[in-house]
Amino acid sequence: MSHAEDHEGTRRDFLYYATAGAGAVTAGAAIWPLVNQMNPSADVQALSSIRVDVGGLQPGTQMTVKFLGKPVFIRRRTEAEIEEARAVAVEDLVDPLSQNPNLEAGAPATDENRSLDEAGEWLVQIGVCTHLGCVPIGDGAGDYNGWFCPCHGSHYDNAGRIRRGPAPENLHIPVAQFLDETTIQLG
Ligand code: FES
Repeated sequence: MSHAEDHEGTRRDFLYYATAGAGAVTAGAAIWPLVNQMNPSADVQALSSIRVDVGGLQPGTQMTVKFLGKPVFIRRRTEAEIEEARAVAVEDLVDPLSQNPNLEAGAPATDENRSLDEAGEWLVQIGVCTHLGCVPIGDGAGDYNGWFCPCHGSHYDNAGRIRRGPAPENLHIPVAQFLDETTIQLG
């Protein structure tokens, strides 16, 4: 299976993936073709953790990788995006929870609690709309310069927080951490 077949995001996302993210999934790329032949439990076991090389991502770009059968959006945000996201008050949010399993349950949806690093440059989230599961469009889409789900019109801001439309929750964040400056581990 090629990277193009793996891809579930937008074409624009794919272009970033193909250029900035070539060879990005060091563990996953080799095992995807194999696990597709195996049963689901083996699939989940084999992919319970992958490492993603994000060294090629420039500020203002993003890539999509597949993890546990779902697209994961990894965006390197610009200073302007970070500033805009951090200016939003939690009281103005539809979903006040961070939806971030890397934090304690109930952590508020501040931008600081949504981003992977302290400076807020890196945003990692599961690319599945919390309404009925479509894959939102990214790269500043929608009315809040973040992601837009065209299925029923859900607008997420540039921290992946639902701002308008039928989706009830912010885009979920996967278990993730930086292993070094350019490697993110999912799971
Ligand atoms: S599935 Fe995204 S708005 Fe309905």
